[in-house]
Amino acid sequence: MKQERVPISVLTAWDAMSAQWAEAAGVDLVLVGDSLAMVALGHTTTLPVTLEAMLQHAAAVDRGLTHTPMVCDLPFLSYQCGADRAMAAAGRFIKETNCLGVKLEGAEPETLEVISRLVRSGIPVMGHLGLTPQSVRQLGYRRQATDPVAQERLLGKAHELEQAGCFALVLEHIPDTLAGQLRRELQLPVIGIGAGNNCDGQVRVTADLLGLTAAQPPFSSALLPGRQLFSEALKGWVASLQPGE
Ligand code: KIV
Repeated sequence: MKQERVPISVLTAWDAMSAQWAEAAGVDLVLVGDSLAMVALGHTTTLPVTLEAMLQHAAAVDRGLTHTPMVCDLPFLSYQCGADRAMAAAGRFIKETNCLGVKLEGAEPETLEVISRLVRSGIPVMGHLGLTPQSVRQLGYRRQATDPVAQERLLGKAHELEQAGCFALVLEHIPDTLAGQLRRELQLPVIGIGAGNNCDGQVRVTADLLGLTAAQPPFSSALLPGRQLFSEALKGWVASLQPGE
């Protein structure tokens, strides 16, 4: 698709119903993002979601899909405690769901080691750079790579991820020009969110696109006021109830 300049569309899903919405929209790939910690489980960050919870939601998403490939996020601490544990965690997604591969954040030397190990073991890996929500305690939710030094670092890391064998790379909340440079320099497709239009594809958190989340990220606008529409419709139903005879 990159070579043919066909834009790649990716939407997140957290259960069977959201998976069906994404598939009906005709997306190329469904991501079981760890954003489900915030979207579906009520946490304020992605940090608390467990491997077991991710596996349970991935299985539900899987049941909602008939043909769209699915990639699952490895949650915080499932791949940061050594390559053996990362391999075991990633292997569970492959064995217990029909996922195509896994996504993980960052490109520190130990993360690159994990990625190489997974790829060598036959597990496709999607990378994720820029705003990496699992590092929120250190980086916050602000735009990343805003100065030339940080941009050089991110460029280097992206190349290292490609060398380690990633099949695609998510770029979150970085300058458009940097994403465009990476699209041109890398063979793998770059999938942006808050990274401008000059990417090979775009990914969105479906709940953000539908206006269902309480806090809308500044770089991902809603297509409709979903929360308001849903709550007004439900309020109407409550108000329509009549006392029994
Ligand atoms: O968890 C997630 O939904 C993600 C997307 C923002 C790419 O990683």
